[in-house]
Amino acid sequence: MPKRLLAPSTVLYPVPLVIVACGTRERPNLLAVNRIASVAAEPPQLAMALRPGRHSVGLIRAGGEFTVNLPTPALLPAIHLIGTTTGRETDKLAQSGLTLAPASQVKPPIVAQCPVNIECRLTHTIDLRSHLLFIAEVVAVHAEESALNERGEIDYRLARPLVYEAAIVRERPKD
Ligand SMILES: Cc1cc2nc3c(=O)[nH]c(=O)nc-3n(C[C@H](O)[C@H](O)[C@H](O)COP(=O)(O)O)c2cc1C
Repeated sequence: MPKRLLAPSTVLYPVPLVIVACGTRERPNLLAVNRIASVAAEPPQLAMALRPGRHSVGLIRAGGEFTVNLPTPALLPAIHLIGTTTGRETDKLAQSGLTLAPASQVKPPIVAQCPVNIECRLTHTIDLRSHLLFIAEVVAVHAEESALNERGEIDYRLARPLVYEAAIVRERPKD
């Protein structure tokens, strides 16, 4: 099969899609993120890339903590809302219908409707020009009973989190 040479871009597949909560339990903010990956095991660490202009960037830099919440497909309308509005202008929590619950180790809350929640503490911030790369240690994980197998491990065939399934995954417009 002949191949066509395309412009360089990050064409990895599958692409995760998560809800990130930052700020505090009293003044939380939520946003949608797909530039996120597992990057180390001991200690467990995630890397997440955000455009510097996001309201959430200031909250994460100030608080040094955030939670990563794995949504189900039923939460797509809420993801659209929190991924297209800014916490500078909108009370996303009130409009999204999402419910928050306290985390165990960090100040930002977790999203109750998400079957898996990951509490993270920032360790490094790297400037990648278009994005800031936040590297964070995982300090706690919550999982619904129904998402666990008989050994008490998360089974993603049971949790069935959303995977970003856009037919064409493009760079999002710069803002
Ligand atoms: C499907 C989807 C994926 C997104 N992924 C990212 C991402 O990886 N990094 C990023 O900076 N913004 C991403 N966004 C955009 C932010 O969620 C969006 O700009 C949000 O309004 C920022 O909110 P804030 O200004 O309250 O922080 C994504 C949005 C959507 C809808």
